[in-house]
Amino acid sequence: MAGAAADTAAPADPLARLHTWWNEARASGAGVPDALALATVTPDGEPANRVVVAKRIDHAGIVFVTSERSPKGRDLAVHPVAAAVLLWPEPLRQVRVTGPVTMLGDADSDDLFAAHSRLSQAGFIVSGQGQPIDPAGLDELRRRTAEIAAGSGGLRRPATWHGYRLRPTAVEFWSSDPGRAHPRRRYTRTTPDGAWTVAMVQP
Ligand SMILES: Cc1cc2nc3c(=O)[nH]c(=O)nc-3n(C[C@H](O)[C@H](O)[C@H](O)COP(=O)(O)O)c2cc1C
Repeated sequence: MAGAAADTAAPADPLARLHTWWNEARASGAGVPDALALATVTPDGEPANRVVVAKRIDHAGIVFVTSERSPKGRDLAVHPVAAAVLLWPEPLRQVRVTGPVTMLGDADSDDLFAAHSRLSQAGFIVSGQGQPIDPAGLDELRRRTAEIAAGSGGLRRPATWHGYRLRPTAVEFWSSDPGRAHPRRRYTRTTPDGAWTVAMVQP
């Protein structure tokens, strides 16, 4: 299978490989290539998981966006770490990433906000992500979103909406092998700026 065949060498930089796999997943057109399962730790120490969009993957890490007032935003304020998974179906590949998470500055978050459609921007403005709501409230939210989107003038990023970057200290690549000898190549480093150590582990 292509995923296993492509995993015979160990590139020095796992983030370059991650970027390559991401591009290949996007080119395949299968599944939801930008979906990033993002696990955080609640203030009580419980695990919490949900999907966000990987907006950018580069040598510095994985960028996503959310509200600092959402449960995940509150988790990250207390425990600024995350464990994330990307899963791509064709070829079948998994990448696991863990590391500290930092909030991006205003200029970067403004750029990320500006890259969204006007309707999405309006949705971010009206949503109190994670707050309770009833069906009538949801209708009202939809109405206000449409109203703001239909207005004129640029929309401003809510001060509570940010880009975040997961800065990997561990990256593991898994690719499917028909004989179940799935290659697993695990990169680790002690800090997000340190040198990588690579090892293969059994499937
Ligand atoms: C495909 C997909 C993409 C999503 N992208 C985002 C995103 O980029 N940012 C975000 O805050 N929530 C996103 N969500 C919604 C989250 O999964 C989640 O419902 C929401 O952020 C609240 O999570 P929390 O209560 O753990 O904070 C996405 C959901 C799906 C299914």
